[in-house]
Amino acid sequence: MKISITKAEQSRISELDFGNLDFGRIFSDHMLEMAYSDGQWQIAEIKPYGHITFEPSMMALHYGQAIFEGMKAYYVDDDTINLFRPKDHHARLNNSARRLCMPDIDESVFIEALEELMKLDHEWVPKKHGQALYIRPVMFATEEYLAAKVSQEYRFYIITSPVGAYYSEGFNPVKLTTSDQYVRAVKGGTGEAKAAGNYGGSFLPARKAQESGYTQVLWLDANEHKYVEEVGTMNIFFLIGETLVTPELTGTVLPGITRRSVITLAQEWNIPVEERRVSLEELFDAHQNGSLKEIFGAGTAAVISPVGLIHHQGKAITLDMEKIGPFAKKMYDAITGIQYGKIEDTHGWAHPVDVRASVCQ
Ligand SMILES: Cc1ncc(COP(=O)(O)O)c(C=O)c1O
Repeated sequence: MKISITKAEQSRISELDFGNLDFGRIFSDHMLEMAYSDGQWQIAEIKPYGHITFEPSMMALHYGQAIFEGMKAYYVDDDTINLFRPKDHHARLNNSARRLCMPDIDESVFIEALEELMKLDHEWVPKKHGQALYIRPVMFATEEYLAAKVSQEYRFYIITSPVGAYYSEGFNPVKLTTSDQYVRAVKGGTGEAKAAGNYGGSFLPARKAQESGYTQVLWLDANEHKYVEEVGTMNIFFLIGETLVTPELTGTVLPGITRRSVITLAQEWNIPVEERRVSLEELFDAHQNGSLKEIFGAGTAAVISPVGLIHHQGKAITLDMEKIGPFAKKMYDAITGIQYGKIEDTHGWAHPVDVRASVCQ
């Protein structure tokens, strides 16, 4: 696959304050664009980041055929950038695409596009531990047609953004609340796809949670409203006694890549891991009898994020709000160690890109 490359005439990197990185507000010099028409993907193009123009009749705006991914690249040294589990992100992108009747993206195109973008924009990858280059692949329906049907045309972009901490709390524990009124996903719906609409639908409950002083909503199952599912942009884990417990994947929860990494590492450390239904009742009981030791979220954006409080119907589980628990800290160190190339990667999760290699044109 040959990607056509047009380099930016002038880099905008001097506008960037690496010491003061917000999440997802600044975009690096280049982006990838690929159009789907006549039943196939056309030649991919890397070009300067910039405006795009579409007709108001573009179908994604009306019928919500839009999916995305979120992954990160990490600075290892001046020659090397690590992409983290890009093939797993690619596989999830295609799963999301299939759920929304959108075309697959070829794995080799996806990986080559990422490698070329890293070579071109490696100076945008922040060097400080805790910072990274966030990568956002996105695909949406572009046919101009007011008919609630599957689009025949699509656009795929990859844009990248240097980022710091996702939550304003940084590494300090976040506060979650359940919602009595709203659910995120139902069985048979689109919960396990990274569909844009899943997020739009969660904003009202998230805003209400934030107005009440919580960081995010802890989603419960839609049927019984008893079992924990996940958080806005993270999967959730509970250390109960010596066992790590996380909600099972039943079609309503996003199958997180970080979730999978946490499970693999915990098992290697001989920590029993249970993927199963977890009720709030069980969590309140475990909290009361002292066996609920730690709660943390896991996701690309926040990596490992300690949870200090879960509010549910006027009652709260409160853990140490001052600091991260030892297990979550060990997990954070292990995952970020692999991401930044400081710890040997025995799983093949890191995908190193040699940024000295010249960009093919
Ligand atoms: C709803 C939701 N759950 C969980 C996650 C964590 O998934 P990952 O670890 O692949 O980033 C994300 C982030 O992508 C998410 O948006």
